[in-house]
Amino acid sequence: MSKLCAIIWLLFLPAIGAKSLIIQTGECNFSRKYYENFTLSIVNNSVSMDMITIRKLQRGIKVFIDFEISLGNSKNYQRVFAHIIDVCGIVSSVRNNIFKSWFESMLQHGNFMYNCPVTEGHYFLHDWKLDSRLVPHYLNVGDYRIKSHFFYGKQKSKHEDFVLDIIVYAQLKPS
Ligand SMILES: *[C@@H]1O[C@H](CO)[C@@H](O)[C@H](O)[C@H]1NC(C)=O
Ligand SMILES: *[C@@H]1O[C@H](CO)[C@@H](O)[C@H](O)[C@H]1NC(C)=O
Ligand SMILES: *[C@@H]1O[C@H](CO)[C@@H](O)[C@H](O)[C@H]1NC(C)=O
Repeated sequence: MSKLCAIIWLLFLPAIGAKSLIIQTGECNFSRKYYENFTLSIVNNSVSMDMITIRKLQRGIKVFIDFEISLGNSKNYQRVFAHIIDVCGIVSSVRNNIFKSWFESMLQHGNFMYNCPVTEGHYFLHDWKLDSRLVPHYLNVGDYRIKSHFFYGKQKSKHEDFVLDIIVYAQLKPS
């Protein structure tokens, strides 16, 4: 197979296994040091967030993303993957990854900033849905719990400075 064919095959591969992620519910906790208010609402598979920040978000802020799948009908979850991401570097990162494409799609539905520092103000995301083309094809259908933990410093150490926790429950279905 020529190189060109291989590339075309790869481009179409995700579409063949297309699945849709139905975002069901979510909850959040935030630090009053960074936010005056943070609301998360999930209605009809659409995510909206509204936040009033009272402190600049600076370089160095990280997010630990933990993707877990439910085992059977129990309340137990098993980790699928977990990553710590440099939030300020995500847009400028050369490597295209799934989180970068999700964030870029969020940028089109709100007023999130591309660059750090992010000054104090009102930021929002309204009626964002995850495009099924942005669902990694290697994920199995099932019930997921996606945890995002935003912080400065070293996670789970006394130098950790907590910013925000978001948990989202979603169902991945064949479409
Ligand atoms: C928020 O805090 C409550 C009480 O500590 C906890 O039960 C809940 O799981 C937390 N939610 C998130 C999204 O971390
Ligand atoms: C937080 O935001 C919600 C929704 O935007 C609003 O109803 C609520 O009054 C706000 N709370 C504070 C303390 O600003
Ligand atoms: C939910 O979304 C579907 C498809 O986008 C739409 O047809 C329906 O009217 C929405 N329902 C509500 C209650 O917003």
